[in-house]
Amino acid sequence: MELPYECGSGTCGTCKARLISGDIADGWPDAPGRKHLKAPDEFLMCQCVAKSDVVIEVAAFVHTMEAGTCTPAFLDGHIKSVKALTSDVAFLEVELRKPLEFDAGQFVLIKVPGVPGFRGWSMVNYQRHCNTLEFVVKKKPGGGISEWLFGGDREGIEVEVFGPLGRATFYPSLARNILCIAGGSGIAGMMSILARAAHDGYFTQYNGDVFFGVRSMKDAFFLKEFTSLREQCGKKLNVTVALSEEEAPASSVADYPQLAFEKGFVHEVAGRHMQSRYQNVRAYLAGPPPAVDASIRMLLQAKMTTDNIRYDKFN
Ligand SMILES: Cc1cc2nc3c(=O)[nH]c(=O)nc-3n(C[C@H](O)[C@H](O)[C@H](O)COP(=O)(O)OP(=O)(O)OC[C@H]3O[C@@H](n4cnc5c(N)ncnc54)[C@H](O)[C@@H]3O)c2cc1C
Ligand code: FES
Repeated sequence: MELPYECGSGTCGTCKARLISGDIADGWPDAPGRKHLKAPDEFLMCQCVAKSDVVIEVAAFVHTMEAGTCTPAFLDGHIKSVKALTSDVAFLEVELRKPLEFDAGQFVLIKVPGVPGFRGWSMVNYQRHCNTLEFVVKKKPGGGISEWLFGGDREGIEVEVFGPLGRATFYPSLARNILCIAGGSGIAGMMSILARAAHDGYFTQYNGDVFFGVRSMKDAFFLKEFTSLREQCGKKLNVTVALSEEEAPASSVADYPQLAFEKGFVHEVAGRHMQSRYQNVRAYLAGPPPAVDASIRMLLQAKMTTDNIRYDKFN
């Protein structure tokens, strides 16, 4: 069943449910998302396991999973490499012991030794049976995994992985124009979507508009990768880097002639470009919650319907 969830890591409260009958065990009674619970019979589904048959009530319509949906499982792996992309963003590769089947745009939860709890990271790459998962990890000051990952040589260390998760997925059978609005590391899942679309020649028929928001040029990354994608896919794929704190330096504009640069918050820049271009569009949004919320508001004002807005809030 498609039960409601968003973060899968005990933070957002979206998976709140009421236990009508049966027994459950709570794996993380201190999960921060428990602040969303109001009554003693409420629990976070993503942190609990059923110990018997259970009857539960959730605050959303429940649908049967579509045939072919990748179902999550626990996997083991180790850190293969960690490379700096900017001063506070790293490119991380995790090598799995068994391949993972996932869809473009999905994420997994990862647990590292000595840090309590799992954290969600979206895959950057796309392959149906994948042994090496690629991620973009933003360093959060004071964050458990951030301090651990950026604080020493972690290559070779064993990690636990649970996934794949997430509904911000792309299939070439979608047959719609694609709009991607990403704040910072939110670009991770979009790269996976673009990789799949490019592989299938999707942009010969449909438009792709990608808006990548960062504060300044020193926070931007993947510009070479975007250039290659543009060369591979042609003019129906447009990539705009939105800089919230500065105009792009002339040298960067000259270095990346295939890309556009604009000053402004990413949702504002996207809104300016997309005016009256929302027909037959599926939007993918990801990044910090304020950036995603602002983009959702902008798309709803433009009369996009919620079934065509897929997002991951990086809580
Ligand atoms: C679906 C999904 C996909 C995601 N994909 C990505 C991705 O591709 N790349 C990426 O970089 N991130 C991604 N994220 C976000 C990432 O999972 C979180 O940022 C994660 O919390 C970072 O882990 P951490 O251990 O570094 O920080 P955490 O330990 O989780 O802390 C996060 C921040 O909260 C603060 N904090 C912690 N505890 C408290 C407290 N009790 N009170 C106040 N503040 C506190 C910390 O100081 C820190 O600044 C994703 C999140 C979701 C839900
Ligand atoms: S999905 Fe369970 S708390 Fe977010």
